Amino acid sequence: MREYFDVIVIGSGVAGLSAAIYLKEAGLDVVVLTKEDNIEETNTNYAQGGIIAWKEGDNRNKLIQDILSAGCNYNNTKAVELFAEKGPQLVFDFFIKKLGIKFTQTSEGKLDYTEEAAHSDRRVLHFEDHTGDVIQSNLIEYTKKLGIPIQKGHTAIDLITNNHHSTDYQEFYKPREVMGVYILENNTGIIKTYFAHRVILATGGIGNLYQYTTNPPSATGDGMSVAYRAGADIINAEFIQFHPTSLFHRDIKRFLISESLRGEGAKLIDTQGRKFMEDYSPQKDLAPRDIVARAIYKEMGKTGSGYMLLDIASYYQGDIPLKERFSMIYKTCLQGGIDITKEPIPIVPAAHYFCGGIKVDLKGRSSIKNLYAVGEVSCTGLHGANRLASSSLLEGLLWAKLASEDISRNFEKIDRKRLDSIPDWEEPEFSEEFDSLLLQQDWKAIQLTMWNYAGIIRTSKGLDRAMADLNYYSYRIFKFYKQARLNKEIIELRNAVVNASIIVRAASRNKQSIGCHYVK
Ligand code: SIN
Repeated sequence: MREYFDVIVIGSGVAGLSAAIYLKEAGLDVVVLTKEDNIEETNTNYAQGGIIAWKEGDNRNKLIQDILSAGCNYNNTKAVELFAEKGPQLVFDFFIKKLGIKFTQTSEGKLDYTEEAAHSDRRVLHFEDHTGDVIQSNLIEYTKKLGIPIQKGHTAIDLITNNHHSTDYQEFYKPREVMGVYILENNTGIIKTYFAHRVILATGGIGNLYQYTTNPPSATGDGMSVAYRAGADIINAEFIQFHPTSLFHRDIKRFLISESLRGEGAKLIDTQGRKFMEDYSPQKDLAPRDIVARAIYKEMGKTGSGYMLLDIASYYQGDIPLKERFSMIYKTCLQGGIDITKEPIPIVPAAHYFCGGIKVDLKGRSSIKNLYAVGEVSCTGLHGANRLASSSLLEGLLWAKLASEDISRNFEKIDRKRLDSIPDWEEPEFSEEFDSLLLQQDWKAIQLTMWNYAGIIRTSKGLDRAMADLNYYSYRIFKFYKQARLNKEIIELRNAVVNASIIVRAASRNKQSIGCHYVK
């Protein structure tokens, strides 16, 4: 089946849906694809803390300084300046005025700005402690209002390029161009050829490559893997941000304990009740995430404990009642038998955010013509070696706007004859079903390898070992990928092993400990 669009957006989080809204409003024929059956199964949906926003008295230079010092000055200063200039006001123009989102207010009816680590001002707007799902649902509603088609259960297999796929030999000698995507319709197994004059990747992060993560299982980094195979530049892939505090619990997994608890006074303590962050940074509990995550990891190693504790019960300073301010964390912890108003919360660090990705410019353009990337899958250089808290939702929104404006201003169609030279996907003559237990085993092996050898603290020996193991997994996975009847799980696993190898290679190349890449 062959279909034609002006723009295909892959991913339905903040970056993908915002881009689709801007494009549709500019009069383009846009479709959003997501591999999930639920549109809202995105990293955006699980964001707790909030979003950096304009605030009276805050100053652009202070925000720039905070981003640069969290990112260890490894940042792209042009991206940082653009973000600080255009981003904070956009929260008001797009989320508040256009979408009508009502962020949490103080008892006097003013917007409640919260604090997070490494911010020199309280400049983060939030909706209680579940900002992401409120943004996600408002975006979906607005997308529906505009009549933007969202095709669920559609998994991208590979980008179509002239150099890789055309049957016209002359195309091999032209600069590389993206022309669309081969897509698997999950529930029928049909593989479709979707053409587009522009493709935007907005597929989110890679957290699921790690044994412990705050991300949902869908965070397999598909966009980076397809872009890499198409030949796009990838940068900063060694910089995986580990969130210091995810819930440590036998039954509740992947649950974030927002940094804004520390913004509102919470302290990290060991199992004997000792506050230990003063041993690691003058900023104590509000030091940048990499410092806090490593401190917790070291304390766990020193004491032999599998977790540390976060105490909000004794230290909360906010004026909104604790149960209300952190309503979701309160309810979720209570389900697990922990009352955060009375006792400390057991926590461990977990993979949280990918600071690297597909290299893009200030308009979201990748190194391949017609291919854009926005949000976590992209690397604008904004975050440098480590991301400042609550900057990612806004980065996704801002680059969605910049990319969409660039597309609509310079929109040109690819000649139809050139598209006609692209064949449909060819399935192997004999394809077989694979036992999902084998796939699960491979997933576990990758996650453990990444956690142990490419995690919070890395060594060159460990990275060598990781590379050797990943080479072996790649060999096996590519082999059965070629023979298998394709399904979403196999496509994700292939993407995962490609991405894990990209990360480990980048980490091995960078011998300098900086930001969230720490080598012993
Ligand atoms: C958090 O609430 O701690 C997460 C915020 C972020 O990652 O930006």
